Amino acid sequence: MDINKTNDAVMQRVQAMNKRVAGIQDAGLYFYNQPISELRGGGRVLVNGREMGMYASYSYLGLVGHPRINAAALAAVEKYGTGTHGVRTLAGSLTLHRELEETIADFKRTEAAVTYTSGYVTNLTVVSTLIGRGDYVISDKLNHASLVDGCLMSGAKFLRFRHNDMEALELRLQQVPSGASKLVVADSVFSMDGDVIDFPKVVELCQKYDAWLMIDEAHSVGVLGKTGRGIEEHFGMEGTIDIKMGTLSKTIPSVGGYVAAKKEIINYLRHASRAYIFSAALPPAQAAAAKAAFEVILDEPWRIQKLNANTAQFINGLKERGFDTLHTETAIVPVICGTDEVAYEITRTVQNRDVFVLPVVSPAVPPGLARLRATITAAHEPDEIQHAMEVIEDAGKQTGII
Ligand SMILES: Cc1ncc(COP(=O)(O)O)c(C=O)c1O
Repeated sequence: MDINKTNDAVMQRVQAMNKRVAGIQDAGLYFYNQPISELRGGGRVLVNGREMGMYASYSYLGLVGHPRINAAALAAVEKYGTGTHGVRTLAGSLTLHRELEETIADFKRTEAAVTYTSGYVTNLTVVSTLIGRGDYVISDKLNHASLVDGCLMSGAKFLRFRHNDMEALELRLQQVPSGASKLVVADSVFSMDGDVIDFPKVVELCQKYDAWLMIDEAHSVGVLGKTGRGIEEHFGMEGTIDIKMGTLSKTIPSVGGYVAAKKEIINYLRHASRAYIFSAALPPAQAAAAKAAFEVILDEPWRIQKLNANTAQFINGLKERGFDTLHTETAIVPVICGTDEVAYEITRTVQNRDVFVLPVVSPAVPPGLARLRATITAAHEPDEIQHAMEVIEDAGKQTGII
């Protein structure tokens, strides 16, 4: 090939990104991709040889390393080995996959469930299999990238509404020509802000306008609801979501994604969604770990109570100290810093004092709303949370944001 790669558009994009990353690294402000070499108790980890309090983990119920879940994974390796025999449709389905899917359907109180190898892929494939050309998909502006990508890939007419604004959603629903199929998609808990979708109103509007409803529960399983079943349980509105999507990589300490719904929808997805038909099955250890984790959530309800107490301590403590935490009510707590530079600076100060928290800057969030994005788990102890807040407070005072 004889392309002048130095001037080629692809190369320009590669170089622009590399330059940006190198600039941040040179300034000592690159905090991403740090290797964790050990998990320790109480929400603590070893990073580059230093023990740090972990405030960037999605292990909301502290289930990573749980002995029963580890034992289930090890037993699955003993029984089935480390891989599958290919795609589910052909030789890749294990009894373990069916057991996991039944466990999920039970947990989510639906008729059936299907799993995929990541949450990201689940959203891509499910949205683009359910809807297509001639249909309409209506999406909250702050939905996760995987939902957005699924909408784009579907070829359906893609309408977005202002974040959590139910009047804007209704206007969008009214814009859909009568007779056209429509799917409303939203996160249950928004991954950057930690706020909860106005679920009762979304359900009401979907019913009023005859729209399908798909909710991404990546950050609400194990977090919302008395028994951790998610957003329907939280609002006492069981059975109101058509397509309940979730991941196996956050509260559930494995990897993968699932959709829970009525039997005929799940059967359709098993035979029509490309990520099921053309991609290998979840490895046995991951399927077994996920199944055991759903069981542990139900058997150890104290974890949800502890997560709720820890979350309240952290959010209230930060607010009392003068921080803006937006509208979070969950374990995802944005600590608004303002400019990207201030967010980087506060991260550096906080990490130097062994509190592992990461910045989120533009374009991932709007300019001026750069933040620390801290997460709280049931593995933290109240005195550790107190200490983390004091460290963040000192950094906030140093930079003048409080
Ligand atoms: C809301 C939401 N949906 C989907 C995903 C993708 O899930 P996974 O990481 O399991 O692929 C994420 C991951 O961050 C998420 O936050």
